[in-house]
Amino acid sequence: MRVCIVGISGKLGQYMVQHCLARGYEVVGVCREQSVDKLSAYEGQITLYPGPTNDRSVIERAVSECDAVLTVLAPWGVQQYSSGTARAVLDFSRPDTRLIFSCGWHISYDGQDVYSRTFKTIIACAGAMARCFRVVELKDQDVACNAVFESGRRWTVVRGSDLEEGESQGLPVWAKHVGVNPILKSNMTRRTDFALFMVASIEDETLVQQCPAICGCMSESALEYADQAGL
Ligand SMILES: NC(=O)c1ccc[n+]([C@@H]2O[C@H](COP(=O)([O-])OP(=O)(O)OC[C@H]3O[C@@H](n4cnc5c(N)ncnc54)[C@H](OP(=O)(O)O)[C@@H]3O)[C@@H](O)[C@H]2O)c1
Repeated sequence: MRVCIVGISGKLGQYMVQHCLARGYEVVGVCREQSVDKLSAYEGQITLYPGPTNDRSVIERAVSECDAVLTVLAPWGVQQYSSGTARAVLDFSRPDTRLIFSCGWHISYDGQDVYSRTFKTIIACAGAMARCFRVVELKDQDVACNAVFESGRRWTVVRGSDLEEGESQGLPVWAKHVGVNPILKSNMTRRTDFALFMVASIEDETLVQQCPAICGCMSESALEYADQAGL
C-alpha cells in the first residue's frame, strides 16, 4: 500500500505518518518547502515532495502512483488553498485510488446536520474574522468538499470534532449527522485518533462516499451511548 499524505508536516499529518508506518504502508508526502525539517525524524522512512499543496505539478508527481491519498484540507490564505488542493488530488490520482479528506463538523454532505445556535455563531464569527484579516478562507473548505462529493470517486470526508492532544484512546466513534446522534455530544477527539480514523478509513469499504462526523471513543457521550446500548 503506497499512501500519499498531502499536508504531511502539520500536526494531523505527522500523526498520520506514524499510523501509516505502523501499518507497514509506504509513505510519500507533500508539504511546504519551509516545513520539510519538521519531518527530519522520519528521514529515510518517507519520501517528500516539497511545495504548496495546491501546486498541481507537485501533487501530480506525489499522488500518481499511490493506492490511497490522505489530504488535510487547510483553508489558509485567500487563494483557494483547500479547493485547489482537493481539485489537484482529484485530477491526478488514479480513478480507483482511495481518497480520504479531513475537515470539521461545519461541513455538511446532505444538509441533514443539526447545528446548535452557539456552533453556528462560532463558525460565522470565525469566518468573518478570518475573511477580514485574509488569513483563512473557511468557505473554501466547503468548495473543496463539494468538489469531492460530486466527484463520484472512492472518497471519504472525515469531519473532526474539537481536538485535543494526548495519548491515543482508540478509534473514534462516528455518526452520519451532527446534532442528531447523541454519541457525538462531547465534541472532543484526540488529534492522534482523528489521524487514526483517517488512516483506518483507507481499508474500510463501508466508509466509501461517506462523510462521518467523529468523536473520541472514551468521551463522555460515547461512553454513555455504549452503556445505554449495553455494549
Ligand atoms: N484544529 C481543530 O480544532 C480542528 C477541528 C476539527 C477539524 N479540524 C481539521 O483538521 C485538519 C488539520 O487540523 P490541525 O489542527 O491538526 O492543523 P495542522 O495539522 O497543524 O495544519 C494543517 C496544515 O496547514 C498547513 N499550514 C499552516 N499554515 C499555513 C499557511 N499559512 N499556508 C499554507 N499552509 C499552512 C500546515 O502545513 P505546515 O506544516 O507547512 O505549516 C498543515 O499541513 C483540517 O482539515 C481541519 O479542518 C481541525
